[in-house]
Amino acid sequence: MDLKEIHRIAREKFKGACRVCPVCNGRACAGEMPGIGGIGTGSSFIANYESLARIKLNLRTLHEIREPDIQYDFFGRPLKMPVLVAPLAGMAINMGNAMEEQPYLSAMVAGAKEAGSMACTCDGPNPMFFDLGMEILRQNEGWGVPTLKPRPEEAFLPLARRAEECGVNAIATDIDAAGIIHLKKAGQPAGPWSVRAWKKVISQVKVPVILKGVMTVQDARLAVEAGAAGIVVSNHGGRVLDHTPGTAEVLPAIAAAVKGKIKIFVDGGIRSGADVLKMLALGADAVLVGRPMAIAAVGGGKEGVAFLLTQYADQLRTAMIYAACGSLAEVSSAALQSREMG
Ligand SMILES: Cc1cc2nc3c(=O)[nH]c(=O)nc-3n(C[C@H](O)[C@H](O)[C@H](O)COP(=O)(O)O)c2cc1C
Repeated sequence: MDLKEIHRIAREKFKGACRVCPVCNGRACAGEMPGIGGIGTGSSFIANYESLARIKLNLRTLHEIREPDIQYDFFGRPLKMPVLVAPLAGMAINMGNAMEEQPYLSAMVAGAKEAGSMACTCDGPNPMFFDLGMEILRQNEGWGVPTLKPRPEEAFLPLARRAEECGVNAIATDIDAAGIIHLKKAGQPAGPWSVRAWKKVISQVKVPVILKGVMTVQDARLAVEAGAAGIVVSNHGGRVLDHTPGTAEVLPAIAAAVKGKIKIFVDGGIRSGADVLKMLALGADAVLVGRPMAIAAVGGGKEGVAFLLTQYADQLRTAMIYAACGSLAEVSSAALQSREMG
């Protein structure tokens, strides 16, 4: 199995719903929502990719680091890499029915587990999405992160209980889904909610709670105040609001404000191990990858997902050798070309 073959099969199965472009940068699919693109002009998805591409790495070779340690402890679960699979739902509505939702999600969760990573599962207006995640996580010893919609307390907590019973060690909630129309249309409010409301909810959940969809220093500080264990710096892959900055642009200020007080995850436009290194150097503890993982699942199933994650891990190790970093703790902004130098 190689990536070319995975992409060839995925391209066939998507039938145009995703073009499987040589670079997944949000241009060909701009505005395709429902679909796989970014909302409106597609500028927020494009900003994710382009802001990360603009960042350059220092190349260093006078040292003796040969086998960087990239193991990452995810709230007590040892991962072989600081790379997780983002929640991506909706084969029928967003991905041209390229696969049934069950085998797709199963490939994401089991493939990630096999590679020593972890995948997020989803929630949506149709209870099928959350139920599927629960069923698959139960089959995988809770090895995954259920991502709940930011529902009102009385709807959120029963889902959180079910997730806890599956043996998961953390849950997430995509607080940036607050404005998503299809939940409102289905009569299922999804916030936004105040810090006070989140504090109350989080205090009743037994496992760490990650707030996904933080793009400002203010919200990052509020997430700490709410008692969240982690944030995902994310604009939902550019799918909720047009004209946001790229996540790589807002990450350094957020890390300066809250690093060490809360775990910082980031997603958006990450396409290689070198991109992972850039995000870590900008202040993230670990990253999530979205669209390329869905493409790998469609083109190669569980093996495709494991293959791509293993490739990211290999690329990250290589990039860390060239950045003179022997471990994740050694990655810092020193890996990045300073802006003053141009
Ligand atoms: C088709 C599609 C479906 C998505 N579904 C969800 C979802 O159900 N929940 C969620 O929190 N994020 C969802 N996302 C956002 C991703 O989790 C992630 O934030 C984003 O895709 C990261 O950017 P990338 O695709 O450029 O790597 C979705 C994204 C796409 C493209």
